[in-house]
Amino acid sequence: MAERKGMCEDLARILISEEQLRSRIGELGAELTRDYRDKNPIFVGVLKGCFIFMADLLRSVDIYCTMDFMAVSSYGNGTTSTGAVKINKDLSRDIAGRHLIIVEDILDSGITLSYLKQYLEVRRPASIKLVTLLDKPSRRRADIRADYVGFEVEDAFVVGYGLDYAEEYRNLPYIGILKPEVYETEK
Ligand code: IMP
Ligand code: MG
Repeated sequence: MAERKGMCEDLARILISEEQLRSRIGELGAELTRDYRDKNPIFVGVLKGCFIFMADLLRSVDIYCTMDFMAVSSYGNGTTSTGAVKINKDLSRDIAGRHLIIVEDILDSGITLSYLKQYLEVRRPASIKLVTLLDKPSRRRADIRADYVGFEVEDAFVVGYGLDYAEEYRNLPYIGILKPEVYETEK
């Protein structure tokens, strides 16, 4: 492998700064706190992309709640959806009669979340809502929208704050646009 300089060298630019993330996630947490008081919801994180967002979001939600995780794959190492969704890890508890809040990193084609929603609806939860940190509405292929959106973003491939390219860049503390040459040449 060729020598690599540093993750930020691979970015065209920073799209959402740490400060912007902190402030918007605080607002989302306050909205959820208001909407779910006394509902004892289950936050369902979609791994792996949700892990940083979920950790910060949940610390800004001030209500009794529980959390669980699912792992799904819809992407290989590339940057566009294959259209197929595979469940790699399912929920660990029963959800019948419970209020679910699905937490995603990004809503892109929408294929992953619309599949997941239908998959979980069969188990008769009281309600299912979607929270996504990022929304790319211009790329939507499935008929789905999020109930809570952190930021609407342009049609560019973004990484950081949990989002990956080929499993890397998740640990960047902000969201950046990856230089196209990174995914056009490397793999
Ligand atoms: P969808 O099924 O096309 O909505 O894709 C959702 C999943 O694709 C997300 O959970 C991400 O893991 C991945 N994804 C979509 N767009 C991006 C991006 O710009 N950067 C990193 N991952 C992305
Ligand atoms: Mg991903």
